[in-house]
Amino acid sequence: MDWVSLGRTGTMVTELPFGTWRFGRETDEGSVEIDETRAYELLDTYEAHGGRFIDTADMYGGGTSETWIGNWLAERDREDFVVASKIYWPTRDDPNGRGLGRKHLRRQIDAILDRLGTDYVDLLYVHRWDDETPVEEFMRTLDGFVDSGRVNHLGASTLWPNAWKVVRANAIADTRGYEPFTVVQPRYNLVDREIEGPFLEMCESEDLGVVPWSPLGEGFLTGKYDRDDVSNVDSRAAEDDSFESKYLTDENFAVLDTLREVASEVDATPAQVALAWLLHHDQVVGPIVGARTVDQLEENLGAADVSLSDDQFDRLAAAKSGPFPDIVDSPARGDR
Ligand SMILES: NC(=O)c1ccc[n+]([C@@H]2O[C@H](COP(=O)([O-])OP(=O)(O)OC[C@H]3O[C@@H](n4cnc5c(N)ncnc54)[C@H](OP(=O)(O)O)[C@@H]3O)[C@@H](O)[C@H]2O)c1
Repeated sequence: MDWVSLGRTGTMVTELPFGTWRFGRETDEGSVEIDETRAYELLDTYEAHGGRFIDTADMYGGGTSETWIGNWLAERDREDFVVASKIYWPTRDDPNGRGLGRKHLRRQIDAILDRLGTDYVDLLYVHRWDDETPVEEFMRTLDGFVDSGRVNHLGASTLWPNAWKVVRANAIADTRGYEPFTVVQPRYNLVDREIEGPFLEMCESEDLGVVPWSPLGEGFLTGKYDRDDVSNVDSRAAEDDSFESKYLTDENFAVLDTLREVASEVDATPAQVALAWLLHHDQVVGPIVGARTVDQLEENLGAADVSLSDDQFDRLAAAKSGPFPDIVDSPARGDR
């Protein structure tokens, strides 16, 4: 796996980050989607393939994801890895137990470092924007984290369509000498293309590294779903009532047809080509690979070896045409 710059920062990362959102996550049936044993197997597999860039968040599995990563890292040289985490979603049932207010940020950075068993995270994202807290307050608090050595770089997640908020925050940071956001983490994949246009243009003009989440459209782009019946698939769709209307559309299946065509041309799987398509974007640092099983992870990491011609890249890009109106997320979904 190649090493690339984390946007315009001086930190190098492996080009396929590994996402740990589903570690310790309780399903509606009360089981755990990725349990502790599987989590370590996945991390071992990622490491064995050369991966060194791990993505987590304070609320993944209610903190369990960070705890398991911390246990796993304790047996390794922490300096070998780049670790990203995120803060925003409620962690306590009180008015200061959420968002980007100073009280919550300070409590959470200490909790994150404690669970990860490390003195610093390489990258800290604001998981969502907090319109209730003055930007000056949270940019100064985050800058303090960088100053004290607890955080190396700052990122902002899922801000589309509000590109202006990052620009304003970075202008404030610039004027006051605070650390700016250098990385963004939006949803982006071959069927969820809403960031194309003004948001991506902002990323280019601000020179922000783009780290896409859900790069396989939560599994849709693996090609494992049939048009008519998803009930028999052992997968995320079975648990998510909105999956069918979100992904299983004629328009998206047309994208899948092109994806399958290109995949057979380059002797790769649809999932590998979908990830490789993101890797071929200049502004993209690397899509966050998600996987529930070791087999899935091994397949997805194979994307690092897939090369696409300009024609193949363009055909995939043209398989879905804009504009792309969509709602990425809302606090009500609250689970990411
Ligand atoms: N910042 C944010 O707000 C945000 C939001 C979402 C995610 N993220 C980050 O992005 C990471 C990746 O997101 P994601 O999990 O949604 O990514 P994704 O790659 O779009 O979806 C991953 C899911 O697709 C299925 N899958 C993946 N590879 C497969 C394969 N080769 N064959 C068959 N099925 C396969 C698996 O689910 P099933 O087997 O259950 O179908 C897997 O859990 C997360 O772990 C997290 O770190 C961040």
